[in-house]
Amino acid sequence: MQLRMEGVEFSYGSDPVLRNVGMELHPSEILGILGPNGSGKTTMVRCINGILSPQQGSITLDAKEIRSLPRPDVAKNISYVPHNSSNDTITPNVFEVVLMGRRPHVTWEFGERDREIAWNAMEEMDVKKFAATDFSKLSSGQAQRVLIARAIAQEAKVLLLDEPTSNLDVKYQIDVMETIHNIVHRRKIGACAIVHDLDLAMRFCDKVILLQSGRIVAAGPTRMVLTPENIKRVYEVNAVIDESYLRPRVLIL
Ligand SMILES: Nc1ncnc2c1ncn2[C@@H]1O[C@H](COP(=O)(O)OP(=O)(O)OP(=O)(O)O)[C@@H](O)[C@H]1O
Ligand SMILES: [Mg+2]
Repeated sequence: MQLRMEGVEFSYGSDPVLRNVGMELHPSEILGILGPNGSGKTTMVRCINGILSPQQGSITLDAKEIRSLPRPDVAKNISYVPHNSSNDTITPNVFEVVLMGRRPHVTWEFGERDREIAWNAMEEMDVKKFAATDFSKLSSGQAQRVLIARAIAQEAKVLLLDEPTSNLDVKYQIDVMETIHNIVHRRKIGACAIVHDLDLAMRFCDKVILLQSGRIVAAGPTRMVLTPENIKRVYEVNAVIDESYLRPRVLIL
């Protein structure tokens, strides 16, 4: 698996939102996409998923242009968990929602193996207890975990996550990121996660890109990018990297 984005330019209307954006993702890597509100993170992820088509540049998965792939093939290869997707309109129960992750792999009916995969994904996200609950009755953090379980059940090569931990309490923020980390390593897939919490990014992302007004201002191994200078430049806050624990921690002052 190799995901590659090169020279991507995107605008919704006349205002450019992504300018000369590029990145690479390899197996067993978590790439963090960081940057202030409105910097273009969600737009970038939607371009990768083929929901949006950049005006210029290329996005390839294993050397194939993603926008030239038929939609079912995109879904077999890339799973996407949007940010705060509204659950009001989804009426089925949690098990049915997770099972839908198998849809791209199934030609007619779901089989025993699909049910088993969905069940295992629910176990990994600790949502088995909600199996028979209506999805629309979950809290936003519970719903978030169910949608990540659905993405895991999809068994794609690339996992795209738009703020996967934004609705989660502190325990599940760590649990969910650890599970994603384990899956990425076990299945040798890649994940791109939009993350606002810089310390969480420091802990779980192998590498990050830092966006500002649609441009990449820094990219590379997380420790090299998340410096007090870069954080100040992009977020306009003071930060220190505390090395006194077992791992470097980002403290916003
Ligand atoms: N559908 C749209 N139509 C027009 N402009 C849009 C649309 N979606 C986003 N934009 C604009 O594109 C820019 C980037 O938006 P985007 O959602 O990619 O930012 P983001 O980095 O994900 O921000 P956040 O951290 O708030 O989620 C913003 O200026 C936004 O107003
Ligand atoms: Mg966003």
